[in-house]
Amino acid sequence: MSENRSEYLVEVEDLKEYFPIRTGFAKTTMLKAVNGVSFKIRNGETLGLVGESGCGKTTVGRTLLRLYKPTGGRILFEGNEVNDKNMREYRKEMQMVFQDPYSSLDPRMTVEDIIGEPLDVHKLYTTKAERRDKVLNLMSLVGLNAEHATRYVHEFSGGQRQRIGIARALAVDPKFIVCDEPVSALDVSIQAQVINMFEEIQEKLGVAYLFIAHDLLIVHHISDRIAVMYLGRIVEMAEADELMSNPMHPYTESLLSAVPIPDPETARKSKRIILEGDVPSPLNVPSGCPFRTRCRYATEKCAGEVPPLTDRGGGHMVACFKK
Ligand SMILES: Nc1ncnc2c1ncn2[C@@H]1O[C@H](COP(=O)(O)OP(=O)(O)O)[C@@H](O)[C@H]1O
Ligand code: SF4
Ligand SMILES: [Mg+2]
Repeated sequence: MSENRSEYLVEVEDLKEYFPIRTGFAKTTMLKAVNGVSFKIRNGETLGLVGESGCGKTTVGRTLLRLYKPTGGRILFEGNEVNDKNMREYRKEMQMVFQDPYSSLDPRMTVEDIIGEPLDVHKLYTTKAERRDKVLNLMSLVGLNAEHATRYVHEFSGGQRQRIGIARALAVDPKFIVCDEPVSALDVSIQAQVINMFEEIQEKLGVAYLFIAHDLLIVHHISDRIAVMYLGRIVEMAEADELMSNPMHPYTESLLSAVPIPDPETARKSKRIILEGDVPSPLNVPSGCPFRTRCRYATEKCAGEVPPLTDRGGGHMVACFKK
């Protein structure tokens, strides 16, 4: 692999992913799932990605790993552009953990084979014993007992399945993992354990995450920085604490005011902003600012131009004409 030419591990520049959708007889419309997204992630860093269902989070993750061919934009790994020709070299470096631990693992395979399969694919051992050792090490890293190796996934709870999923992702020793809502399908009571496991693994291995979730509190807990998405675009991005304490985009404000406040006194005093209406269809994105149909500050200018994402100081990026 080529030398690292950047201080960043992953860089995404103006990424676009459009899906052609049949919208009538002999008529297709482009569904703009990701519409010009840019961000950078350092080694060992976690960038959280939040937004309502359907805003394009999963598509960003899948396109970034080139599970979809990008419609436009560039993806750089260690400063080198990932393209059709060299993407195989990068397959090992960038992995994904999926949202649904029930459907993402093959039910006919034992845990040992699920975790060992990437080792087979990338030929990462010479003897059977070495393969077994590697699998057992990975299992212990994610908190699974060695006795679990010969069992099948249906014997495990959702939390344990997610541990199997991350052990599989870690098998090839990646530098970057896209975690696509890895705890959303789990019981609230075990979400914290699994989140802690992700953090411990990062501390031990120095792996970087793009951590996708729709729950801002979870994202705040695990992320160094947070990007907020709306209809295929990033509308705000900042250090995690800065974004939570000083949200600038009206959409982020309303997302934050929807977060349950544990203290009733604080809750009573806070001015809740209720988000009205539904997210427009990505088949029919509003002109100008994508949020304007739900924004209480919208002006004529907001309908005419797309507000650019600009730095308001200290790397706090906002795409809004008001602020
Ligand atoms: N493979 C696909 N083909 C067509 N449309 C898709 C495909 N994947 C996602 N979409 C559409 O793209 C939009 C963004 O989806 P997605 O990335 O899954 O959002 P999120 O993960 O934020 O919920 C949605 O409107 C979804 O229906
Ligand atoms: S650009 Fe206009 S419509 Fe968009 S969020 Fe800002 S004020 Fe609201
Ligand atoms: Mg998703």
